Amino acid sequence: MRNVRTLGLLGTGVIGGGWAARALHFGIDVIAADVKPEMESWIRGAVANAEPALARLTFAPLPPKGKLSFTTDLRAMAQRADFIQENIPEQLPLKQRILAEVSRHAAADVIIASSTSGLTPTDLQRDMTAPERFCVAHPFNPVYLLPLVELVGGAKTAPATIEAAAKFFTYIGMHALRVRREVPGHLTDRLQEAIWREILHMVNDGVATTGELDESIIYGPGLRWAGMGTNLIYHLAGGETGMRHMLAQFGPALKWPWTKLEAPELTEQLIDRMVEGTQSQAAGRSIRELERLRDDYLVAIQQVLRQFDVGAGSTLRALEERLYKDAAGAAARGDQARGEQARGHTLPRFDSTVRPEWVDYNGHMSDFLYVHLFGAAMDAIYRSVGVDEAYRKKGRMFYTVESHVRHLGEAKVNEPLYVTTQVLALDEKRFHLFHRVYRGRDDALIATGEQMHLHVDTAAAKAVPMDPTLRAKLESLRQAHAALPVPDEAGKPVGSRVAR
Ligand SMILES: NC(=O)c1ccc[n+]([C@@H]2O[C@H](COP(=O)([O-])OP(=O)(O)OC[C@H]3O[C@@H](n4cnc5c(N)ncnc54)[C@H](O)[C@@H]3O)[C@@H](O)[C@H]2O)c1
Repeated sequence: MRNVRTLGLLGTGVIGGGWAARALHFGIDVIAADVKPEMESWIRGAVANAEPALARLTFAPLPPKGKLSFTTDLRAMAQRADFIQENIPEQLPLKQRILAEVSRHAAADVIIASSTSGLTPTDLQRDMTAPERFCVAHPFNPVYLLPLVELVGGAKTAPATIEAAAKFFTYIGMHALRVRREVPGHLTDRLQEAIWREILHMVNDGVATTGELDESIIYGPGLRWAGMGTNLIYHLAGGETGMRHMLAQFGPALKWPWTKLEAPELTEQLIDRMVEGTQSQAAGRSIRELERLRDDYLVAIQQVLRQFDVGAGSTLRALEERLYKDAAGAAARGDQARGEQARGHTLPRFDSTVRPEWVDYNGHMSDFLYVHLFGAAMDAIYRSVGVDEAYRKKGRMFYTVESHVRHLGEAKVNEPLYVTTQVLALDEKRFHLFHRVYRGRDDALIATGEQMHLHVDTAAAKAVPMDPTLRAKLESLRQAHAALPVPDEAGKPVGSRVAR
């Protein structure tokens, strides 16, 4: 398979727009094709709407954003794309026809994947040229924030196609779930539909409203599901003997049964109840407002899960590892795009923007977040010298034991910022640093921060000497900064200019 630089999208509705936002954010160019020319402004709007939440997902250094172009010419898209993702309406004859057509224009080493929610790959690839490069890659809305993508091969799919697709989706921050056997609805939609069917029954039978049924999930099982799925959760519910006890206790209930296997008829009355119920839940909030709320908590949840290294949090960690590695590689190759030349000195530089949740009631960036920013800048430096997940797993890391921040100016929401870091001193356990925060628009110095970091053995909770290789790398950084003047403010305590 090709190295994917350009993603081709076929169909640019809700799902096509989500794919575009994710790919562009992680540096992949996108060429989007739709039969309707008006979808160009729609997809540009969808990408812009996704950006604020995506921008908050990680502090890791991102490559320059990809470029978006649009066409109504399927052939032009197929000839320029390295990977094609189809997202047209869920109708088998339409998808079969369009997939066959696109496969005639795309080179045989270009993977073609379908976002289908439930059609099977064997049916979809039936009339394609080089059908072995086809698979289902089923994402979840919002595609730009939810990492899951189900990969399903059909009778003619080559195993290498699934592996290459998994590699690409992992690169853009996703969790590729390889589905062993094609079944209608794949895995997730089969499960989701079981719940949806029961909801329709209960609303139809007047057992509960849509709002009550959503409460039954969001205050309980929904909270558990983000970290552990139904099976592991039930294993815990069985007590010391786990799943075996769980099955013995609740097995008989499966025969009663609690659930129904066929969905109820979608009568006008049921449709009205579903629509009125969800409108009352929305309580006057627009779809856009609700999307923003959903996106904000989806970002926050993934950041919490990241701390515990579970589920989508593990995917985020893996993505960050990859981004830091790539940025270190780019820096090592002297990539000026990552701009290591800051204000004439060779200081490590970390770029960021003032995120919406960073500003206080003045509309300016809050004081404590400057320390957060220094942490992110240091994280980038540490990773570049090998202090990564593997190093931390060995029980070694740096603790910040002292910080002195001076606030000299202000930054407003969404303003670009950059931090430069100067090494003041280094010994076997201590790393003494001086950060300067500049506002991107006018290069004004708006804060400085002096910090002492201590190298620790986390299990013993005490300072220990650094590994020799790490020490040598930091020492070369110190030597590179040795000729720079020591900043006037360094070493001064708070209020040092006040006469005592
Ligand atoms: N909406 C979801 O939550 C969701 C989630 C996962 C997967 N999917 C799947 O993704 C696919 C697209 O769903 P959607 O919700 O984005 O639909 P949508 O209706 O929002 O978008 C479909 C787009 O395809 C375009 N289109 C139609 N015929 C075309 C053609 N011949 N060539 C190019 N473009 C064409 C339409 O103009 C439209 O812009 C479906 O297969 C669906 O099952 C949807």
